[in-house]
Amino acid sequence: MPQKFALKQYLPNSSRLVYGCMGLGGNWQRLPLTDGDIKQAHAVVETALEAGMTLFDHADIYTHGNAEETFSHLFKQNPALRSKMVLQTKCSIRFADEQHVGRYDQSKSYILKAVDASLKRLGTEYIDILLLHRPDALMEPEEVALAFEQLLKSGKVRHFGVSNMHSGQIKLLSRALEVPLIVNQLELSLLKHDWVDAGTTFNDDQSKTNRVLGDTIEHCRLENIQLQAWGSMANGLYTGAKIDSNRFNDKQNAALLATKELVTNLANLYGVGKEAIVLAWLLRHPAKIQPVIGTVNLDRIKACAQALTLELTREQWYQLYVTARGQALP
Ligand SMILES: NC(=O)c1ccc[n+]([C@@H]2O[C@H](COP(=O)([O-])OP(=O)(O)OC[C@H]3O[C@@H](n4cnc5c(N)ncnc54)[C@H](OP(=O)(O)O)[C@@H]3O)[C@@H](O)[C@H]2O)c1
Repeated sequence: MPQKFALKQYLPNSSRLVYGCMGLGGNWQRLPLTDGDIKQAHAVVETALEAGMTLFDHADIYTHGNAEETFSHLFKQNPALRSKMVLQTKCSIRFADEQHVGRYDQSKSYILKAVDASLKRLGTEYIDILLLHRPDALMEPEEVALAFEQLLKSGKVRHFGVSNMHSGQIKLLSRALEVPLIVNQLELSLLKHDWVDAGTTFNDDQSKTNRVLGDTIEHCRLENIQLQAWGSMANGLYTGAKIDSNRFNDKQNAALLATKELVTNLANLYGVGKEAIVLAWLLRHPAKIQPVIGTVNLDRIKACAQALTLELTREQWYQLYVTARGQALP
């Protein structure tokens, strides 16, 4: 039986797994889109849809707009595709240029301008979900509210959410809004497990390093805000990507290797690809997280979809968590 998750209430056609489009559109060198990029996007989207993924996650910055632009070519080739998808994109990150430092911008005028540019690149008349990409220190909630109201009224955006925000930021923004925030996209994975630690090590010395997340997970659950996990595959560190030993200390390297072995054993036990185990760990959490997967490898996309065919036991879930932590729970 398919599991219910918060987003279903707003977008019944949304899949539990989200396809993340950051890898589409070539590289980040501001080169024009090539036929090869479009062909790749075609193959990836077809494979993701066949594997049951209907929610596609973009951002205006991905490959400097090229990722979004691939979709306008796909829709031109096959207009029926748009109605099969839930399209999500993000705005508010502005890269550095000759005159400016890299910064975030949630002013009304910038949000409106960014959405128009995304609509044009995507080749669609509406965005299903618009996320504010990262917290803007100068954000004025009332100004964001005016931008959202205009976008909703014009039919350009149907729902709104945030990314990389903690509970206090969400509460502050929500108070000014007439519409609910329905998504918070955070980095959550077996590798980035501080969001679990925030609860399990609360009231313990170990918690000193992870207070920052506070009650963000609980707040989103209480308010029916869908949690989405970026970096959900931990960039393949547990499933075959080369581990750069200089990036991690000895203790972290040992935890990585032990977790990798455990993931392989569980994949063999369930008869699925290793990616499925890494994602099943996120899916098993009662917050009903939506993992966002960023691979452009067609076989890995298929292996990710197998995550929905199994449910880890409580013991397997904790074994993965404690092994990935490399430290026993208090
Ligand atoms: N909201 C935010 O701030 C934010 C930030 C980052 C990303 N995102 C979203 O989240 C999505 C996923 O994030 P992500 O791409 O950072 O993380 P991810 O899904 O954890 O990792 C995907 C990356 O890992 C590589 N990989 C996976 N398995 C591998 C293996 N066995 N061997 C070698 N490489 C492997 C993939 O390469 P291959 O393509 O070759 O498989 C790809 O480059 C993005 O597409 C984007 O939509 C959001």
